Amino acid sequence: MSMCMKHLFSLLTATIYLVGILRRDGVTGFKLADTNTLKTVLMIHRHGDRNPVTLGSLNPNKANNFPDGLGRVTLFGKQRLYGLGMLTRLRYANFLTFDPNEAYVHSSNMDRCLVSAQMVSSSIYPPRTKQLWSNDIRWQPVPVHSLPEHYDPLTEAGNTCPRLNVERRKLEQTPEVQAIRRRMAPISSLAERDLGLEFGDWWKLGWLYADLGAQEKSVCPTCTLPSWYNSTIRNTLREVTLECFKLNTYTPLLRQLYAGPMLQELVHRIHQPLVNDSEGISFKRKLFVYSSHDSEMTALMNAVDIHYLEPPGFASSMFFEFHQIPRSAEPIVRLYYTPDGGPEKFCELTMGCHETNESFCNLTAFEKLVQQINPYDYVRECFSPT
Ligand SMILES: *[C@@H]1O[C@H](CO)[C@@H](O)[C@H](O)[C@H]1NC(C)=O
Ligand SMILES: *[C@@H]1O[C@H](CO)[C@@H](O)[C@H](O)[C@H]1NC(C)=O
Ligand SMILES: *[C@@H]1O[C@H](CO)[C@@H](O)[C@H](O)[C@H]1NC(C)=O
Ligand SMILES: *[C@@H]1O[C@H](CO)[C@@H](O)[C@H](O)[C@H]1NC(C)=O
Repeated sequence: MSMCMKHLFSLLTATIYLVGILRRDGVTGFKLADTNTLKTVLMIHRHGDRNPVTLGSLNPNKANNFPDGLGRVTLFGKQRLYGLGMLTRLRYANFLTFDPNEAYVHSSNMDRCLVSAQMVSSSIYPPRTKQLWSNDIRWQPVPVHSLPEHYDPLTEAGNTCPRLNVERRKLEQTPEVQAIRRRMAPISSLAERDLGLEFGDWWKLGWLYADLGAQEKSVCPTCTLPSWYNSTIRNTLREVTLECFKLNTYTPLLRQLYAGPMLQELVHRIHQPLVNDSEGISFKRKLFVYSSHDSEMTALMNAVDIHYLEPPGFASSMFFEFHQIPRSAEPIVRLYYTPDGGPEKFCELTMGCHETNESFCNLTAFEKLVQQINPYDYVRECFSPT
């Protein structure tokens, strides 16, 4: 294909996709943002479709069944993330410019999140003519910031805070965890016997859903699944995953440790969209992107009182929007969500910070909600002995 044809092809694909979305606008819940009042967008998304993380020592499927690597994003996962970027560009078409300096991207240090952050950000910021540095590649780099797993409370809360696992283990004897153990007993003993998996910590029971899902024929044609894996068991695993996500923030302390830093970040960025780099050069940011995990996203949802019914899918994304309404004293925060990166199920979510029937929170009420989680003592709580 000639260079020109290639450009035409990708432009055509993008246009068909976007026109498709627009035609379904209203039917799908997807809308363009109200950019008259919009000031800042904070987007927290899950990585794209991934390969299994843990196979188990007895699993007939081995790492070489997954050419992209265990735990890594698949080709389809990359495409889905690119689609999420297009959806974002479309929703904020009248808000964003094409200057990547207006965005600040933070990713978990895990490869699947870093790759996802690059897919999303390069799809939000396709190079304009003056930004093209090559005739062959319609892509430009967008900086992605990251911290080592053990020092990143924003997108790696589960790995950063030693106290978190101590507190989660304390739940072992609760009726809720015992009920999950009982419900999973037939399945976990089969998984121990046939796959060589171990389920010491209760929350590992919630990992089987994604790991077995990633070995299904439709995503891994060369894989074999255990004979007992069927749709009933798949459904049980999905429900157990949801239960585990709820239990991750069972106590106020768990909410604080799992979601506190991200909540604090939201409030901080609403007030301070100016980010200085280490050389003191500062840019006003309109868009903050966090490439994260389902566990961190559900912890955040629990913290703002959202009762989700499905585990967040690959490329799911929360969009916190900060609006300043003219002639209104109080700015507001709205939350939108796509459970799979696509426009079909795009919707507004109602956070639990209001007594009225409004879907949004005013800033005072949002900050009150955040203060209840008390994110400010994170370091002391996280690293304190128990
Ligand atoms: C799946 O397997 C379980 C246990 O063997 C069985 O009870 C259930 O009926 C099966 N479901 C389907 C849809 O085949
Ligand atoms: C960024 O730098 C400017 C001036 O260089 C300073 O006034 C401002 O306080 C700094 N902001 C932050 C968040 O550090
Ligand atoms: C902000 O929201 C809270 C809760 O809904 C409400 O009680 C309060 O009156 C609102 N403040 C303003 C200034 O509208
Ligand atoms: C909220 O909506 C429900 C149902 O639409 C209604 O019954 C209730 O009175 C409303 N509450 C307020 C505070 O407007």
